[in-house]
Amino acid sequence: MSLSKHPELIKAAIEDGLQYGVGATGSRLLSGSNSQVVKLEKMIAEDKNMESALYFQTGFQANFSCIRALLDSHVLKEKPIVFFDKRNHNSLYQAIFNTNIDLIRYRTLEDLKEKCNLYSQDKRPKFLITETVFGMDGDIVDIRALKELSLQYQLFVFLDEAHSSGICGKNGLGLSTDVDWTGIPICVIGTFSKALGCMGAYATSSKLIIDYLINKASGFIYSTASSPMVIGACIKAWQLAKLMNKERTHLLNLTDYLKQKLKEKGYKTLSDSTPIIPIIIGDEKRTLDLALKLKEKGIRVSCIRPPTVPIGTSRVRISLTTNHTQEDVDYFIEALPCNL
Ligand SMILES: Cc1ncc(COP(=O)(O)O)c(C=O)c1O
Repeated sequence: MSLSKHPELIKAAIEDGLQYGVGATGSRLLSGSNSQVVKLEKMIAEDKNMESALYFQTGFQANFSCIRALLDSHVLKEKPIVFFDKRNHNSLYQAIFNTNIDLIRYRTLEDLKEKCNLYSQDKRPKFLITETVFGMDGDIVDIRALKELSLQYQLFVFLDEAHSSGICGKNGLGLSTDVDWTGIPICVIGTFSKALGCMGAYATSSKLIIDYLINKASGFIYSTASSPMVIGACIKAWQLAKLMNKERTHLLNLTDYLKQKLKEKGYKTLSDSTPIIPIIIGDEKRTLDLALKLKEKGIRVSCIRPPTVPIGTSRVRISLTTNHTQEDVDYFIEALPCNL
């Protein structure tokens, strides 16, 4: 069963609502903290092998306020160099707009390597900002290669695990847990709003960085804390998600099955083995028409067009969940016109 409707999450939300109330009524630094959110942050830091963690009301807020705090050139005393994957989510783009940085956008790992090399003699602080699974392509980054680059070029690594949380890494704890980051400055964001079925996000890092964010991340300081009901559900989702390896295997098998069937029908997909499967159509109108046709058959797909993706790569995006079955996939494939 997917987590968003899981009875144990609903029960946890109700129990915490009864005990702590629906609203937090204040920001975290004033009256908005309770022992449950502290428990959640402790669990996250421990499981992600980090020293400390901070919960934010949304992933957008976490990305926006953490990145702006970390890239503050007054604090750094220099204009930082920021290597930034072109496919990054809008919240990461919003975070870097109007900041005093040298922005180096890259498209592939090879491109990133070349650009890191180009700036190797530059002694200013350097940051690498990337998603670990790209939301529009379903692609997974080469996390080991990123770690090596970070060591080689002394990069501060900022990872957004929105699409990898609950799906990738050991026990679904996110791709970043596949490598040991000892000695590398790193901040990892993960959301509760997708596979974990709740709301909100965490930032996890060293104690030094988290203490800095507590005092500097505006979205944390100047916004009312999340509902205790949401926090209760997040704790339960975090605990349950770690135990869902069977569901993750089911998702992986279903993903491979769907991709094979799509190929047989003449469709081009992009993704690595993640449950985000974009079917590239190209033309915007054809993409919309296809989404509409599928809707008539009771199938909802996301229609993704420029500027969210580059011109000529419009796509319908399928997100498989643990609730989907092979019969669902067969029904979808049957509903899909041939593209041969
Ligand atoms: C990669 C990525 N980061 C961050 C966010 C924002 O997370 P939230 O929806 O919790 O604000 C999203 C949401 O779509 C996302 O796809």
